[in-house]
Amino acid sequence: MNHLLSISDLTRADIEQLHRLTDSFAEVSRRSIPKVPALRGKNVVWLFYEDSTRTRLSFEQAAKRLSADTMTFSVGSSSVKKGESLRDTVLTIEAMGVDGIVVRHASAGVPWQIAQWLEDRVSIVNAGDGWHEHPTQALLDSYTIRDERGALDGMHIGIVGDVKHSRVARSDVLAYTALGAEVTLIAPPTLLPSSLEGWPVTVRHDLDTVLPSLDVVYLLRMQKERMTEHLVPSLREYTARYGLTSRRVDALRDDALVMHPGPMNRGVEISAEVADLPRSVIIDQVRNGVATRMAVLYLLLGQGVDKVLGAEVSELPVVLDPDPSGSGPGNQAQGSNHPGQASPTAGVRA
Ligand code: CP
Repeated sequence: MNHLLSISDLTRADIEQLHRLTDSFAEVSRRSIPKVPALRGKNVVWLFYEDSTRTRLSFEQAAKRLSADTMTFSVGSSSVKKGESLRDTVLTIEAMGVDGIVVRHASAGVPWQIAQWLEDRVSIVNAGDGWHEHPTQALLDSYTIRDERGALDGMHIGIVGDVKHSRVARSDVLAYTALGAEVTLIAPPTLLPSSLEGWPVTVRHDLDTVLPSLDVVYLLRMQKERMTEHLVPSLREYTARYGLTSRRVDALRDDALVMHPGPMNRGVEISAEVADLPRSVIIDQVRNGVATRMAVLYLLLGQGVDKVLGAEVSELPVVLDPDPSGSGPGNQAQGSNHPGQASPTAGVRA
């Protein structure tokens, strides 16, 4: 049984294979009937103890496009309100018969804990655990850059803002550097983790001097809900030094991309006009999130990690089912397949 808990569990070859699978599922998503029977008979539950729009809905959309059955757990209307523990909740859900649990929780490590309790009988996907990791966000972010620019090798990516509280930053740093990019964190010292030992990054505190050298400027949300102390004097002062305004965009190279994981605080870390510029690929990130999560669910619940990571995408018949409507691009993905780079299952916990 396999899980996706951390980007650090994936090799570069694993991430590249997931990106190629995402290409195939993006093609499925463009069909007039965007559905394949890859996960027919599989049951996936969304176990979200924290709010979400993009992650939960795109996992739901992904599962439907793969013909999986789904169950939704909402904390607010569940027996958690009556004091039921996380462990009892998880065991209860397992008893109903599930193949996968997609979990978001405010506490770091919960996805690992659940995998242990269930003794690997159910695949667990980390949809965000505290400040720790958000691996599918990093997969869709790196896919979006690759989709726009071909590859991440040699790119300079600046991650700006509240790194301290950001699980997205932690997963993105791992994915971007695994794929050959150089990452600079740009933030006031108070919004950086207390130790960056082992992080393969450069740190800068002055956004204006770094902007001209960036291929991608990736803005993080100011996470007001996680700030228990005053880490910046005021949001206005934060915006003055670190907000991506139209004036700052003028300092970027013509082909530099603007990214944000969402939800955005327009007028804080990004101005409303900048969020809607053609170079802002924030909506593309959301769109790519569906195909990315189809690839992840297929990897874990479909053919099996050994077969998927070690195979050429064209060897995975369900992905390449022709368009049943006959009106879409059909089996176009076959023409764009690259040879798979064989890799061990190392990385996706067995
Ligand atoms: N990026 C992200 O995780 O968004 P949601 O909180 O809406 O899922």
